[in-house]
Amino acid sequence: MDDNQATAGGAAAGAVPGAATRPGSAVGGPADDVVIALEGVTKRYPDGTVAVHALDLVVHRGEICVLVGPSGCGKTTTLRMINRLVEPTAGRLEVEGVDVTRSDVTALRRRIGYVIQAAGLFPHWTVRRNVATTCRLLGWERARTEARIDEVLGLVGLDPAEFGDRYPHQLSGGQQQRVGVARALAADPPVLLMDEPFGAVDPVARDRLQAEFHALQRRLGTTVVMVTHDLDEAVRLGDRIAVLRQGGHLEQYDTPARILAEPATPFVADFVGSDRLITLMAVTGIDAGTLPAAGPADAGLPEVGAGATLREAVVAMLGSADARVRVRGPSGPVVLGLADVHRLLAQPS
Ligand SMILES: Nc1ncnc2c1ncn2[C@@H]1O[C@H](COP(=O)(O)OP(=O)(O)OP(=O)(O)O)[C@@H](O)[C@H]1O
Ligand SMILES: [Mg+2]
Repeated sequence: MDDNQATAGGAAAGAVPGAATRPGSAVGGPADDVVIALEGVTKRYPDGTVAVHALDLVVHRGEICVLVGPSGCGKTTTLRMINRLVEPTAGRLEVEGVDVTRSDVTALRRRIGYVIQAAGLFPHWTVRRNVATTCRLLGWERARTEARIDEVLGLVGLDPAEFGDRYPHQLSGGQQQRVGVARALAADPPVLLMDEPFGAVDPVARDRLQAEFHALQRRLGTTVVMVTHDLDEAVRLGDRIAVLRQGGHLEQYDTPARILAEPATPFVADFVGSDRLITLMAVTGIDAGTLPAAGPADAGLPEVGAGATLREAVVAMLGSADARVRVRGPSGPVVLGLADVHRLLAQPS
């Protein structure tokens, strides 16, 4: 571990930037809302390996940018250049308008939470002390820090009374990762870098953690760059997804819906897979306003709620002989047919 200090990020005490200014997603937001900007950033390691090649990437305030791509395509290197654990060979990298190569590295890292690929907890410190790292660095009062530890442990689903006084080796891999997430969140950093944060968590816990993390991120307005191997996770959490290929080449940077509906290159199409429409259906809602009202003859159709995804509707549809389903729309029941599914998929929001 080259720099454990940097694994626990943090913000200026109590800062919650963007919380009030950014409801929902800022995809394509105004230029002055850019929090992270990479321009032509290249990393060539001393042995000649080009991990990242002339990468351009912009992340707006409050957005979640997800990096995906095959193993070794430069995802971790990209994250580590943002908080200067790795120095770029060429290009320009700004965080909140400041060139990171000119910022004070300690100050930079206190504003940037970092969840590393393998949790990276201090082995000789308890869970509570690990989580408190940045709060202590920022000089928070003890009572405030203790209250915050309880709060963030609860957020990641670990009972502080049960787990707070354990050491990392007394936790499962998934629990260690959750402590890593709690530690990075503890001081409300305006920027959060996460390297496969939920990778070691079982699917049920991961589902819950993703949902809670997403709600929290939206509430705080944190700007996030996250790496994952799980395309479903990328589609679920990402405001934009960057698909990288070997050598750190950016193939496409776009909303999940567009990546899935209109892969820019054969590599992206191959990466998102032949079942990409199923993935897309899982994140596409049903616009009841565009559907015909249900008549008395439709009473026997399978039914889904207004908040159902297209995927849930299609699964329900399989129970009807003519592939139609009733949707309980806000202004009464409507009917969704297979042609509507095609239409809704072709107009990703
Ligand atoms: N210190 C280093 N020296 C030389 N090459 C390195 C170094 N660190 C990483 N690399 C190489 O740079 C490339 C990108 O590595 P990186 O860790 O960024 O990949 P990754 O996309 O995060 O992969 P994974 O999905 O397996 O975590 C790889 O080919 C890797 O072998
Ligand atoms: Mg990696």
